[in-house]
Formats: sequence, structure tokens, C-alpha cells
Amino acid sequence: MIKLSVEVASLTLRNPLMLASGVLDESYESMKKIWNSGAGAVITKSIGKTARAGYPNPVVVNEDGYLINAMGLPNPGIDDFINIIEKLNNEKIKVITSIFAENGDDFSYLAKKAEQYSTAIELNLSCPHAKGLGAEIGSNADNVYDIVKSVKSSVKIPVWAKLTPNIADVSEIGIAAEEGGADAVVAINTVRAMAIDIKIKKPVLSNRYGGMSGKAIKPVGIAAVYKLYESVKIPVIGVGGIESFEDVVEYMMAGACSVEIGTAIARFGVNLFNKILTELQIYMKENEYDSPREMVGVAHING
Ligand SMILES: Cc1cc2nc3c(=O)[nH]c(=O)nc-3n(C[C@H](O)[C@H](O)[C@H](O)COP(=O)(O)O)c2cc1C
Repeated sequence: MIKLSVEVASLTLRNPLMLASGVLDESYESMKKIWNSGAGAVITKSIGKTARAGYPNPVVVNEDGYLINAMGLPNPGIDDFINIIEKLNNEKIKVITSIFAENGDDFSYLAKKAEQYSTAIELNLSCPHAKGLGAEIGSNADNVYDIVKSVKSSVKIPVWAKLTPNIADVSEIGIAAEEGGADAVVAINTVRAMAIDIKIKKPVLSNRYGGMSGKAIKPVGIAAVYKLYESVKIPVIGVGGIESFEDVVEYMMAGACSVEIGTAIARFGVNLFNKILTELQIYMKENEYDSPREMVGVAHING
């Protein structure tokens, strides 16, 4: 009998697929729709202390196989957003609140505000295009250790650290998060990128630099997850370029106990959760896996 439920440290999710932060997760309606389409949890857009407008257009470059975005972390601020999380929570929807801040105190402030209504907190230590935030602080192991430690001492719910791939060694940051007390690490956020419009002869995005997501970054995510699986003992959550059940299996074999999907949902629609879950079950049956857990890390045993 195939069971799709997975454990991520102390949490149990009904299946390993989650909505990644930043895609169709600004409103109650869209997150509810995604939960109803089968996601095991929804992760909110990253939320800060106060409202933030984000960058002016253009903020997205959409090409075959990848997307580059530099949204600039637009969000309504925690006080306005909390009502949305509360409503989701009232309907027993597993909501993981993603937060961003400049330092441990502010991360802790946000985490405490969200705690009551959230299943877990995901720390955005990895956005590649926001000044003084995200990867700018999350590329330094000492910062990551301090921030995670501060948040862990402020809340009782699980704390996940979302890591950047834009560094020499992702495991150094993963270990810092683990030592700070993180319950899981999430890899990867977007890959720093740029596109130039050759007609107007300047970068396309108003912020010039952005973060690349979608199919093209899957191998970068797989390598990060594989490396982290060998470097930390806490669970690894995989994200980056997942579009199919094959991609989910690949991430799990690399060492992910569950995964997040972003760009593909924007591209193919919310029914992708259902489709992947159905096909995943067929794959598991054919390969005699009773639980997704049995696939986690098998690529390390085999080679
Ligand atoms: C438009 C857009 C907005 C995003 N916003 C956030 C965000 O607010 N916080 C965050 O941690 N990640 C954010 N991400 C990164 C995704 O959560 C994910 O890590 C990345 O896109 C790779 O996964 P994917 O290829 O499935 O999209 C965003 C990605 C996109 C495409």
C-alpha cells in the first residue's frame, strides 16, 4: 500500500510537494486553490516588517526553460498579511510563512508574529536581488548561524533556512544553519542572472540583476541538495526547476525529503500538483517503493 505522506523533522505532510515562496502565494484564494489541488503545504511570499513596493517594471524575463525575476520582495508587511495566514490556518491548510529581514532581531520579530498561525517558518536567506537582504546576508556563515539561533530561541515551531546557490560551497552555509538550530535546510533559491536587450543595448530588468528559476536550474539544485545531504544531519528540502514526477524523484534520490515547486506552477497551472502526485504513485508502484522516504538519498548509496 503506497503512502505519500512524508516527515520533515517533526512535521508530517500529506505528500512531499509544496508550493515554493513567491509564486501564486500572495492571496488567501490562490493559496487555498493550491492546497485544494493537492499540495502538501503552501509557502507564502516572503514577508517583511513593513509594506514594500518592490522594483519598477520590467521585473521578469520569461524565456523557454527559464525565468529571471527581480521583483524586489514586494509584500504588504506582516501586520496586513497575518490575516491571510490566519484564514488559511483556520481551514487547517498547512501554511509555512516565509520571512525576510536585515538581522536576527527583525527575523525573530516576524517569526513571533507569524508563529501562532504557521506550521513552520522559512527564513529567506537567499533572495539574490534585494539590497541588504536575502543572499547578501545569507552568504555569510556567521550571519546565518546568528539569525537561525535568534529565531529558534524566539519560536517553538520548526524553522527552515532557505539557502542561496550563489556561493562557492553551499554546505558551509548549511552547516551554519544546522549549528544555529535549523530544523531543515531548503535549497535552492534562484541563481543570480541577467539578460541584456540588444536593441536598446542595456539590461532588461530595472534592477539589472535578477534570479533565474525554472527547468534550467534543476541541475544546480540537484548538486546543492546532494552536497547538503552529505554535510548536514537535518532534513534537506529540494527546490529548483521541478516540472515533473521524474524531477521530484531525482531530487529525492539526491537527498531531499520533500520538494517545493514554483515557476512550473506559474507556467503549467495548479493542476500540476495533482498530475505529479498521480504519476509519482505509478512510479513508486512500478519500483516497489511504499513511501517517498525510501527514495531519499538512494543516489548516494548507488554511486
Ligand atoms: C517570481 C518569483 C518570485 C519569488 N519570490 C520569492 C520569495 O519571495 N522568497 C523566496 O524565498 N523565494 C522566492 N522565489 C524563489 C522560489 O521560491 C524558488 O526558490 C526558485 O524559483 C526555484 O524554484 P522553481 O524553479 O521551481 O521556481 C521566487 C521565484 C520567482 C520565480
